[in-house]
Amino acid sequence: MQRQLNEQSGEAAAAHASHGLATGESQRADWTIDQGWERYTPEQHGVWKTLFERQTKLLPGRACDEFVAGMHDLPIGPEQIPDFRRLSDVLMKRTGWQVVAVPGLVPDDVFFEHLANRRFPSGHFIRKPHELDYLEEPDVFHDVFGHVPMLMNPVIADYIQAYGQGGLRAQRLGKLAHLARVYWYTVEFGLLKQKDGVRIYGAGIASSYTESVFSLDSASPNRLRFDLERVMRTHYRIDDFQETYFVIDDLDELLQLAHIDFAPLYAKLDSGPEYQPGDVLGSDGVVARGDGSYHAAKAGSNK
Ligand SMILES: [Fe+2]
Repeated sequence: MQRQLNEQSGEAAAAHASHGLATGESQRADWTIDQGWERYTPEQHGVWKTLFERQTKLLPGRACDEFVAGMHDLPIGPEQIPDFRRLSDVLMKRTGWQVVAVPGLVPDDVFFEHLANRRFPSGHFIRKPHELDYLEEPDVFHDVFGHVPMLMNPVIADYIQAYGQGGLRAQRLGKLAHLARVYWYTVEFGLLKQKDGVRIYGAGIASSYTESVFSLDSASPNRLRFDLERVMRTHYRIDDFQETYFVIDDLDELLQLAHIDFAPLYAKLDSGPEYQPGDVLGSDGVVARGDGSYHAAKAGSNK
């Protein structure tokens, strides 16, 4: 699930989805629904196939080793939209997670409650054939192809559960916007340094044909060393490619984050600077400084 949070209020920016509910599915109190796998049409499976095939051609040498390994061990292939029951059988045995279907974005507390209990809420619908690179809300391709392979990794499995628990606490403390930036710049748009170069582990990148190339190959974005406080002070873009990607050295860095008591950090964040998505600071560990050309060109063309 790609959380598009309103940075001011920490509330979901998009309205709750209506996908699928018109077809008579009933929604439970935790917002889950039946995936309705049997109801997917050949055209919908075809969209999955198109997305799957072009993305699996692109990702070798780009996605991190853990993503590739997770994908390999899952019942995911080009021919059909995966059945969440089969995915969950494999995931449960590996890391104790399961995939549950939801109609679209769900309220924050519902989302965190699922994660805290090792349930990954996935949109059950799939984008239309003419919208392959357009995603109003996270669909089954983003949620399953992007997120589930990494949930096969024990470190990510623990980290995302801890994020769910932390999200429930942050919500009570009114600090959700700061915490959401950590999720955004790791689970969704994180890069990882491997011995053979920088690789993708974030689902928002791994499920995007265009951003898989942009994040690694473009001269435009910054690639900076991940630093927790720096990230929590940094706004992000929900409408376009990121201006900055944060790079971790090892997935174990995330495990350390899962054990940090955020309360003192939240207090510290009440004062001090906030950073814009494209800022580079003297204190940053710069992996590659971007020239900002992509967003500058877009800003120019919008004048
Ligand atoms: Fe996501």
